[in-house]
Amino acid sequence: MVTVRDTLLSVQERFRAGGIDTPELDARLLLQAATGLRHEDIIMEAARGVTGEALARLEEMAARRLRREPVSRILGARAFWNADFKVTPETLDPRPDSETLIEGVLAEVAKEKPLAILDLGTGTGCLLLSLLQELPQATGLGIDISAGAVETARLNASALNLSGRSDFMEKDWKKLTPLSLYDVVIGNPPYIALPEIAELAPEVRKYDPIAALSGGPDGLDCYREIASLLPRILAKNGLVALEIGAAQAADVKGILGKAGLSVLHTLADLAGHDRCIIARWTRV
Ligand SMILES: C[S@@+](CC[C@H](N)C(=O)[O-])C[C@H]1O[C@@H](n2cnc3c(N)ncnc32)[C@H](O)[C@@H]1O
Repeated sequence: MVTVRDTLLSVQERFRAGGIDTPELDARLLLQAATGLRHEDIIMEAARGVTGEALARLEEMAARRLRREPVSRILGARAFWNADFKVTPETLDPRPDSETLIEGVLAEVAKEKPLAILDLGTGTGCLLLSLLQELPQATGLGIDISAGAVETARLNASALNLSGRSDFMEKDWKKLTPLSLYDVVIGNPPYIALPEIAELAPEVRKYDPIAALSGGPDGLDCYREIASLLPRILAKNGLVALEIGAAQAADVKGILGKAGLSVLHTLADLAGHDRCIIARWTRV
């Protein structure tokens, strides 16, 4: 009989040898998924046997991880803010760093106001839906150039009982002709400079969609496109919160300022990198 403990140790060892960054965590998460055991069961019932079916499921998942597929893609879900979001091949795998944007917006808005929010490049919908969870009177539209991402965001909205306050649309933000003005515009646009894409970790380069990564030759194309759109879509004193790459704060501040926005401040992520820019449209 192969025990839970032996199975866990053997997968950890293979992950370590295979150059996986977090072998202990990844092995445990996959073992839990393959066996249906909870974290505490794995500790308390380490001597329990693992069935042949569970071992086969684990073997298949471990092989995928060794090909550098992220655990969230193998499991099809990623925890973000206060919920689990379905992740599909057409969506970016939501990053913990993006929670900086949620904190930034919540610090600027009144919780009970009926805000209209627009999410540019919604992916799984994680940003918009997390904000709607926190702002009970708000409504939101998420747009994405990818039909698959829009479909996934709709499924996530439904799973979180937020379909009544959210809408999702397949749309290129360059072609957006808004019917109304928005109190809050958020976005985590693709911001990797083209030459840097080849240097990304295989987990990112091979599995995140290129449309979610590439920000053009200098990584700033999407900020220029979005900045030219903002004056047409923001209500007076409307708020903008954009995620940025670690070294892009000065450039994106310049782009937003040139478009007529008043940049308020930047927020850093847990690693201390500037991760989000907050600005307002203060003109009439
Ligand atoms: C970095 S991902 C962010 C996804 C999600 N908001 C998140 O934070 O996890 C950028 C998203 O923008 C979308 N996108 C790229 N160019 C776009 C465009 N011109 N119009 C609309 N969406 C676009 C991509 O398909 C992708 O889903």
